[in-house]
Amino acid sequence: MKKLEQLYEGKAKKVFATDDPEAYIVDYKDDATAFNGLKKGTIADKGIINNRVSNHMMRMLEQHGIPTHLIEELSERETLVKKVTIVPLEVIVRNIAAGSLSKRLGLPEGTKMKRTVLEYCYKDDELGDPMVNDFHILAMELATEEELATISSYALKINELMTDYLKDLGIELIDFKIEFGRTSDGTIILADEISPDTCRFWDSKTGEKLDKDRFRRDLGGVEDAYHEVMKRMMGE
Ligand code: TMP
Ligand code: ASP
Repeated sequence: MKKLEQLYEGKAKKVFATDDPEAYIVDYKDDATAFNGLKKGTIADKGIINNRVSNHMMRMLEQHGIPTHLIEELSERETLVKKVTIVPLEVIVRNIAAGSLSKRLGLPEGTKMKRTVLEYCYKDDELGDPMVNDFHILAMELATEEELATISSYALKINELMTDYLKDLGIELIDFKIEFGRTSDGTIILADEISPDTCRFWDSKTGEKLDKDRFRRDLGGVEDAYHEVMKRMMGE
């Protein structure tokens, strides 16, 4: 597999073309940003950990029937993925109130939601990724009705699978953000990443935060938290 020209550089990853027209290589960086890029920093080895953790989660999800972009982990920081066009939505699933939901609705962080909450944000940095509902998504043709039904049912299934998987590792899945893509034949598959950057993980016993909130909120112990997640998943 030949790595060709860089197609895109995001906040946490770069994407490269390959000699296979249906495959890209993603390359995970240590760069960390928060608050729409206002806060910048680096988290040592984050790229390595997120690459491995994300692939690990995607393999687990594939085994349970969720189609993902994962083809093959190529190196510490690089993974071969199926070429998709990203549906411009951040799909957020919440089990316990935290972060922007706590702020918006005045629910103390840690409040268990009586039902799972699904939110969509329109991926647009200039607009600050505003929250949208099904009507906005259909009116703006960000996704079709059928695609949205697929996306929401995958998102809820992913939540169940991840919650159960993490429970056994002593991690409570508070909330997470995922993104989906369309392959060249229009199939919706899970894309982007699943990592401590994109999830809230709390230690089940102590409630300690094991995710990017340590960076966002200057809590210290950022690297240790990322390593701890990888260790619990992969034993190293
Ligand atoms: P929020 O409470 O800040 O809206 O975040 C909800 C979840 O989404 C949380 O697990 C962190 C994740 N997230 C991202 O992956 N990218 C983002 O840009 C934001 C704001 C949140
Ligand atoms: N990565 C996002 C940004 O820089 C925000 C976040 O994860 O909090 O905007």
